[in-house]
Amino acid sequence: MKLNKRAIIFDLDGVICFTDKYHYQAWKMLADRLGIYFDERVNDRLRGVSRMASLEIILERASRQFTPEEKEVLAAEKNDSYRALLSGMSPSDLPDEVRDTLLELRRRGYLLTIGSSSKNTRFILERIGLGDFFDAVADGTDISRSKPDPEVFLVSAAKAGVAPADCAVVEDARSGIQAAKAAGMTALALFGDAKGCGLEDYDLASFADLLNIF
Ligand code: G6P
Ligand code: MG
Repeated sequence: MKLNKRAIIFDLDGVICFTDKYHYQAWKMLADRLGIYFDERVNDRLRGVSRMASLEIILERASRQFTPEEKEVLAAEKNDSYRALLSGMSPSDLPDEVRDTLLELRRRGYLLTIGSSSKNTRFILERIGLGDFFDAVADGTDISRSKPDPEVFLVSAAKAGVAPADCAVVEDARSGIQAAKAAGMTALALFGDAKGCGLEDYDLASFADLLNIF
């Protein structure tokens, strides 16, 4: 398959770099402290979902209710642990395959942008040496509704000056594939629960597989 698009919008966590393991560790620390059951299956439901919506999913198994103020404190606690883990990241955490593929896609003339629900997006991009790389970045600080709502991808396309129909999205989350389709974009699934979810236009075999379709 060959796609005729102008821009490729990348999800960040679980696509460009593997920060999803740090999300898991930070949520696990919080859940353990609260005595709430949490495992990889629950974690899969948090992909692409905002911080507060993720907390709500974790608290589904709690034995008591939490006030909105308590939830703010818990979300901040998780984010502090998560940021401490992110601080240890460096350009060596950007896989060679991802870096080489991005450079080749740029050489072929595509606009490359980010569409992530994370409010830590800019911090992560700086850590892995991509602080100035992308043509546009839309993240959790730009939107009021996280995936599966299409907002973050529509903002990313608008920032790059490209029509939604001219964009393809690379996602590891089912919620992200839903968001891409709702935005009127082509949805490419890589890893996670995006692959084989049934809503995607194409399953990527690897990140470098992008070079076969663009
Ligand atoms: C990404 C991740 C989610 C995370 C969300 C918010 O979409 O896939 O698991 O909950 O970002 O991240 P943040 O860094 O703002 O807490
Ligand atoms: Mg993701």
